[in-house]
Amino acid sequence: MTSTTIQPATSVRGEIVVPGDKSISHRSIMLGAIANGDTTVRGFLRGEDNMSTMHAFRAMGVDIRDDGETIRIVGRGLHGLTEPGDVLDCGNSGTTIRLITGLLAGQSFFSVVTGDQYLRKRPMKRVVEPLSRMGARIAGRNNGTLAPLAITGGSLKGIDYVSPVSSAQIKSSLMLAGLYAEGETTVSEPSLSRDHSERMFRLFGASVVRNEQGVTVSGGVELTAQEVTVPGDISSAAFFIVAALITPNSELLIKNVGVNPSRTGVIDILQAMGGDIKLVDERELSGEPVADILVRSSRLKGISISGSVVPRAIDEFPAICIAAARAEGVTDIRDARELRVKETDRITAMAGNLVKMGIMVTETDDGMDITGSDRLTGGTFDSSGDHRIAMSMSVAALVASSAITVTDIGCVATSFPTFFPLLEKVASR
Ligand code: S3P
Repeated sequence: MTSTTIQPATSVRGEIVVPGDKSISHRSIMLGAIANGDTTVRGFLRGEDNMSTMHAFRAMGVDIRDDGETIRIVGRGLHGLTEPGDVLDCGNSGTTIRLITGLLAGQSFFSVVTGDQYLRKRPMKRVVEPLSRMGARIAGRNNGTLAPLAITGGSLKGIDYVSPVSSAQIKSSLMLAGLYAEGETTVSEPSLSRDHSERMFRLFGASVVRNEQGVTVSGGVELTAQEVTVPGDISSAAFFIVAALITPNSELLIKNVGVNPSRTGVIDILQAMGGDIKLVDERELSGEPVADILVRSSRLKGISISGSVVPRAIDEFPAICIAAARAEGVTDIRDARELRVKETDRITAMAGNLVKMGIMVTETDDGMDITGSDRLTGGTFDSSGDHRIAMSMSVAALVASSAITVTDIGCVATSFPTFFPLLEKVASR
């Protein structure tokens, strides 16, 4: 089990580029594989999660080449995938397993999907149940609710699904199944989750309509290959935004970051806490808003976080917890129950780490109350096998009273393989 030790810093300064967006990278492979023609992808994230998606599609007969710069996917059309010869291993990636389960439900072959020890504990009923209503035949452990899942593909019928949780993985899984279903598939959710699927489906020529009822996809529409440019991942940028906000004498420019409004909850939250964050040179790339983000050290104050901003910042709560730990006053987080079913239970994992750093935390069923302090105690902290916990604790180290050692850091490679060298590049001692 690998670990790293990070020393406190005197400033975080410079100009950086973070790797490509994980969600958009996954979707580019999936849609490229079932489109007609060759899709090229620039800025693709070569993290382990996205490689799991790439391997799964290669195993279904898709020719995917990587020249180090551009990914080229030779699309096989809507009905061109072939039966994989073995189990599809999705590794640690919830997006891979949930989205391809939707896609596989509509194929004319049999497949089995699984993942690592963490993924095999994560809830799959949330996609299995609505897909079964569409006519999918899916069996799995624990009465079809846990991976491995065995999928006997076949014909599907569109449904109107009201999702009890805001989840882009549920929505996207049903949208992919919807491409193969007879009629229309509509998905609604309590408040909008990331809409990368909607945007990329449109880019590839799918029929996608959004209204108050939710998003509707029509079945049987062929897709056309595209040239996709993936912006930097705001979820990766978030660690550096928090690092620059909490470390004194800091000024950091993060270039070329995706600022899709369904993902910018973290910026809204940190600005409401008093963070000096500016979006510069806003533009659009492959149907996605992009900007440079300029961040300066700030005095943060505690706020209340709940409601529709939560799904717009869902992956950033570990980093937000670190900002809250340094803020003046109490930050209360609510409506964030979904954090309990991420790569690990992020409420319990972060609360435990913050308490160990000397911070007062009260855990609730759907969030926590964090009382900020200007003293964070160093020491050894475990990632719980979760990349975002590992990176958040590394950011906390910059302002801790002594060095922080983070254990089990291999998981960082799932989303941000270059995180540690980049942190060392911008942090001064
Ligand atoms: C993702 C959706 C989110 C997010 C995950 C990526 C996606 O999960 O946490 O990191 O790419 O669709 P949920 O849909 O479970 O909220």
